[in-house]
Amino acid sequence: MAHAPDPAARPVPRHIAIIMDGNGRWARRHGLPRTAGHRRGVEALRRAVQGAGELGVRHLTVFGFSSENWKRPASEIEDLMWLLRRYIQSEIAELHKNNIRLNVIGDRARLPDDVARMIADAETRTAENDALVLTVALNYGSRNEIAAAARRLAEEVAAGRLAPEAITPERLESALSTAGLPDPDLILRTSGEQRISNFLLWQAAYSELVFMDKLWPDFGESDLTEAVREYQRRERRYGAAISSS
Ligand code: FPP
Repeated sequence: MAHAPDPAARPVPRHIAIIMDGNGRWARRHGLPRTAGHRRGVEALRRAVQGAGELGVRHLTVFGFSSENWKRPASEIEDLMWLLRRYIQSEIAELHKNNIRLNVIGDRARLPDDVARMIADAETRTAENDALVLTVALNYGSRNEIAAAARRLAEEVAAGRLAPEAITPERLESALSTAGLPDPDLILRTSGEQRISNFLLWQAAYSELVFMDKLWPDFGESDLTEAVREYQRRERRYGAAISSS
């Protein structure tokens, strides 16, 4: 009798995307302000980057700040921007040393000028790195991204440079902020919530979804490994029939 294939022998996901959720709840459980949860969240992000690198994942995309997060109190937004500045300042040398490219998606126009500049500098500095691409979604919302791509194509059509029949899924994809990145194989959300929350809607068409109860600040390398094992147990079919073996 043939042995069942060992799931660990299946490929690791090339691209993992993470919705880092639960910082606020973590803080509340520890009797701390929400900002303390975000600070611990940055440490969890460090562990995730490290773990992804060790597993041989080539792309890690994280939801850092959604276009809806502006509804939060100004003090929390300021704290997140402060953390972002600090993250870039303190991490960039380490990312660069580990051959990691930093890439940011989302609408930068509303980010503070100095943050936008720091991002652009960090992207330029790490542009040639190719061990891992760390994409951080900031002021990102998937519907806005898709609408912006549609608008760009509509402008091309209006200018007579593009025929409407030439608008294919591939052409639309090339107008998204993730152009050039593979679609995520695995989308992971922490904190027990089971939603996509306007994150990579187009790109998630065939992603495997894994939801974990752990709050993001408690997320460790072993959790990433566990999510990858779960992914490896899934059979990806892309609409094809179930295999009979
Ligand atoms: C969700 O927790 C997390 C966020 C809105 C921000 C994610 C930010 C970090 C991990 C730290 C900063 C890192 C960067 C790159 C800026 P929540 O506040 O929604 O938690 P809750 O649902 O428990 O309230």
